[in-house]
Amino acid sequence: MKRLLLTLSLSLTLALVTHAAEVTSPNGDIKVDFQLVNSVPTYSVSFRGKTIVKPSKLGYELAKGENLLDGFTLVGDETSAFDETWKPVWGENSSIRNNYKELLVQLVQKSTERYMNLRFRVYNEGVGLRYEFPQKGKLNYFTVKEECTEIAMTGNHTAWWIPGDYDTQEYEYTKSRLSEIRGLFKKAVTDNISQKTFSPTGVQTSLMLKTDDGLYLNLHEAALVNYPAMNLNLDDKNMVFKSWLTPDAQGMKGYLQTPCKSPWRTIMITDDARKVLASNLILNLNDPCAYEDTSWIRPVKYIGVWWEMISDKADWAYTQQFPSVILGETDYSKAKPSGRHAANNANVRRYIDFAAENGFDQVLVEGWNIGWEDSEGNLKEQVFDFLTPYPDFDIKALNAYAHAKGVKLMMHHETSSSVMNYEKYMDRAYKLMNDYGYNAVKSGYVGDIIPRGEHHYSQIEINHYLYAVKRAADFRIMVNAHEAVRPTGLCRTYPNLIGNESARGTEYQAFGGIKPGHTAILPFTRLQGGPMDYTPGIFEMDCANGSHVNSTICGQLALYVTMYSPLQMAADFPENYLKHPDAFQFIKDVAVDWDKSLYLEAEPMEYITAARKAKGSNNWFVGSVAGAKPHKSILSLDFLDKSRKYEATIYTDGTHADYKTNPQSYKIEKKTVTSKTKLTLHSVAGGGYAISIIAK
Ligand code: NOJ
Ligand code: CA
Repeated sequence: MKRLLLTLSLSLTLALVTHAAEVTSPNGDIKVDFQLVNSVPTYSVSFRGKTIVKPSKLGYELAKGENLLDGFTLVGDETSAFDETWKPVWGENSSIRNNYKELLVQLVQKSTERYMNLRFRVYNEGVGLRYEFPQKGKLNYFTVKEECTEIAMTGNHTAWWIPGDYDTQEYEYTKSRLSEIRGLFKKAVTDNISQKTFSPTGVQTSLMLKTDDGLYLNLHEAALVNYPAMNLNLDDKNMVFKSWLTPDAQGMKGYLQTPCKSPWRTIMITDDARKVLASNLILNLNDPCAYEDTSWIRPVKYIGVWWEMISDKADWAYTQQFPSVILGETDYSKAKPSGRHAANNANVRRYIDFAAENGFDQVLVEGWNIGWEDSEGNLKEQVFDFLTPYPDFDIKALNAYAHAKGVKLMMHHETSSSVMNYEKYMDRAYKLMNDYGYNAVKSGYVGDIIPRGEHHYSQIEINHYLYAVKRAADFRIMVNAHEAVRPTGLCRTYPNLIGNESARGTEYQAFGGIKPGHTAILPFTRLQGGPMDYTPGIFEMDCANGSHVNSTICGQLALYVTMYSPLQMAADFPENYLKHPDAFQFIKDVAVDWDKSLYLEAEPMEYITAARKAKGSNNWFVGSVAGAKPHKSILSLDFLDKSRKYEATIYTDGTHADYKTNPQSYKIEKKTVTSKTKLTLHSVAGGGYAISIIAK
C-alpha cells in the first residue's frame, strides 16, 4: 500500500504542468508545445498531428553548480507573426521569404532570481529555438558547464552522420540507424591532423535523418556567435539527442554576460527531401546584412596554383634545405630552391594567362609566403608572417600583370591554426592585400589551435573566425575560411564570408579518394549553413601521388550546379582542361550567382538534380550527381519561360563511363528545347550530368 501511494504521488508530481503554450507554423503543419513540467521547461514538436520531437527538456548546467535546469515559473508569454521578403547580396535566389510564427516564453528561477527566456520560431519547414538571458535579476556573468537541450526522437531513425568532434568536420558520412552509431563509430573516425572526438554516440550537425514513414528531419544551429559550436550526443537507449558544446582549454563551455542569447537550435521537418535543399530556415534565423555598402562583394569563379601541391606534383615550400625556420632570421636569399615550388613567377603567370583567356575572375596562389618549410606539427606560434613573399614570387609584378589582364590574384593565409599569431598580423596582412589589389583571401586553420588546448570550435575560436570576417570588411575583403567552424548562416549578416570548407572537400580525392555519394549528402548537411568551397572540376582522375579521384568528368561538371556556392573553383591544371575543351566549356559558361533555384530530384547520398536561373539573364543551368548507384532522370523542362526557345548543351556520362576505370568518357549533345521538352538522362555511379540552357 505504501509503495502504491509513493508511486502515485511520484507520477502525480511528474505530471505537474504549471504552464502550457503552443505555436503553429504559418501553414499549420508544424506545432510546438511548451510546458513547464515540474517547473522544468519542456517542449515537443508535431508535424500534421504526428509527434516528431517527444517532450524534451531545456536548460543549462552552470560552472558553479547553480544550474538553470528547474525551479522555473512563468513571468509571461507572447506570440507574434512575421512575414517579409529580403534580397541577399548573392545567393540561390534573388529574394527570400522569411515567414514564421513566434512564441516567447519568459521564465524566472525564483530561488536565485535569474531570468531565462525561450524563443520559438515556427516556419512551414521547421523550428528554431533559442535561449535568451535578459540583464535583469541576479544573472550577469556566468560560465556554462553544459547546455542541456534535448531533442527526443520518436524512433530508431536512419541517420547520415559524421563523428562528433571539437576540431574537424573533414569526415565521410555514414548512413545507419541511430542504434548502429555506437558500433560504427570507430570506423567512421578517420585520421586528421587535428581531431578530438568525445563520445561513441556523438555526432555533428547539420545532421540528416529520415523516419520510417518517410519524413526528413534535419538538426543544426543558426547564428553561432560568441558561443561554442554544438555537437549532439545521442542517448541511444532512449533515442534522445542532447546538446554537447565544445569546451575550451579549461573544460568550460561558454563565458556569457547578460544580455545575451544562444544560437538557434533548428529542427527541420518535411515530407520531401527536395524541400530540405530548398529551405532557407538557417539564413532566415540570422540577422539581416550588417553592412550598408555591399557593392564590393562579388561572386568569384577562380582557378589556382593549388591542386599541384594537393596532388603532390609540387610543393608549397621553396626549398628543402631548412630543417626549421625562424621568421626574421632564416635567410631565404641564400637558399637553394628545390625546383618544386609552384608559386613561382613563371608558373603564376601561366595561370593568370589561362584565367584571362577563359574568363576566370581570380587566381589563388598558395605557397607565396615564407615559412612552409616548417609548417606542420610543431605547435609553433610563429609559422607564417603573412607579409613576406618567397624570393621567386614577385608580389608587385604579378598583381600588376594580373590586373592588366582583368584578373585578380586571390590571397592565401594559412594560419597553421596559430590564431593568436594571425590576429597579431591581421591588419597588416589585410593592408598588404589592399596595397597590391587583392580583394579575397582564402584562410586556413590546419593543425591544433594555438593558444594550445583550445579547439577549432571553442567559443574563443568562434569569435576569431567572425572577427576575421568583420575586420576584412573594413578593408573591403571577402573571406573563404578553411577548417574554420561549419557555417550557421552568418553569410546573411556578413556576406563577405563568401565561402568555407569545414567538411571533407575535393582535396581528399587526392588523399586516397572519397566514396561516391559524398556530394549527394553534403547539400543536405554541410551546405545547410552556407556555401562550401568544395573545389570541383577535376578532369584527370589519376593524381601524381597515385590517388584516384572517384568521379567522372560529368560528375565534376554537375557540382557547379548541385553544390551551391558564390565562390567556385576550377581546381584542375590548365593543361588538363585543354585536353577536354568541349567539356571545359560548361565550367566557362556556368554562372555563380542566381535569380532562382529549383531542386528537381533529391535523396540523401543517392542523387540530387538542381536547376538554376543565372542572375539577370534568361539562361538556366542544370546539374545532377549520382551516388553509389547509377541514376536515371526523366526531366521536364517546364520551369523554362513558356514564350522562349533555348539552345541546350547536354553533357552526360558516356555509356561505358565508370568512375574507377573510365572516368573521362562523356557525350555532348546540342538541341533546341522549350518548356515542353522532356529529357531522359542517365548518370553512372559516381557520375552525373550537366546542361546549359541558353535563351535564343
Ligand atoms: C588545407 C586546405 O583545405 C587546403 O585547401 C590548403 O591548400 C591547405 N590546407 C594548405 O593551406
Ligand atoms: Ca581542409
